[in-house]
Amino acid sequence: MLFRSFLCRKLIFVFCLCVAFVSNAQVYQPKSIIALIGALDEEIELLRQSIQKPQDEIIHGIHFFTGKIGKQRVVVVKTGIGKVNASMTTAFLLQHFRPQKVIFTGIAGGLHPDLKPGDMVIGKKTIQYDFGYINNDTTLVRNTRNPINSQLNPLYFEADSVLLSKAQIAAKKTVLEKISIAAASPSIIVGTIVTGDLFVSSEKKGQQLRLLFDADATEMEGGAVAQICWQQQVPCLIIRSMSDKANSNAQENFAHFKKVAAHNSASLLLNILSEISH
Ligand code: ADE
Repeated sequence: MLFRSFLCRKLIFVFCLCVAFVSNAQVYQPKSIIALIGALDEEIELLRQSIQKPQDEIIHGIHFFTGKIGKQRVVVVKTGIGKVNASMTTAFLLQHFRPQKVIFTGIAGGLHPDLKPGDMVIGKKTIQYDFGYINNDTTLVRNTRNPINSQLNPLYFEADSVLLSKAQIAAKKTVLEKISIAAASPSIIVGTIVTGDLFVSSEKKGQQLRLLFDADATEMEGGAVAQICWQQQVPCLIIRSMSDKANSNAQENFAHFKKVAAHNSASLLLNILSEISH
């Protein structure tokens, strides 16, 4: 009798250990490090320069720069262009570094008529405009599905509310570089960012994105990063500075203005970081 109850308790203990092990393996356990991501060299340059004593860790060929910015431990990485590259790098990032927050910084094409090159959009929500169905000429954008629990993801990925409010505070303290001498000082709005695997240099496509999604800016990575973070329950924020207006001049404007726009976005990000750490 005594032996049976001992065996029973032992079995329960082993069972609990197994449950703990399995759930531990599945639950994302964040560390006190914040991930700062961009797609291009220009987008992460200021961040890399701001790291004290940076270390370069190469994972599957991708360079991750770690160290401290102020008091905050950070990991800075360049994803490369497009949703697939952004997803791959974000997956490596979460798996290896387990950041507690992810912030994406970079440039975009402006869709809101008032936005000019140099202005910024803090993404309140992000959507992938090229995921869904196409029937004849009509594209029907649909929710993605989370492969972990088979649930539908939200159509729009909302920014983490804490990061969003920190970004709004930081925006008031950020001085952005003007893109041309004649232009007024750059402004920062909170808005909707749309993501797709296309560089948009078409008025027609730009207007369509604005109309369908009430979009303020279009880019090529944010929605993918937001989806991966959502599925792993990691707080995420996307910020973008306009290099162009996604119209027929977009490629030319992009070439001229990408450096300043990328720098502006990284400046805001550094101020967001100091809001988070104090
Ligand atoms: N990034 C910067 N400008 C862009 C545009 N017009 N379309 C997509 N991504 C961009």
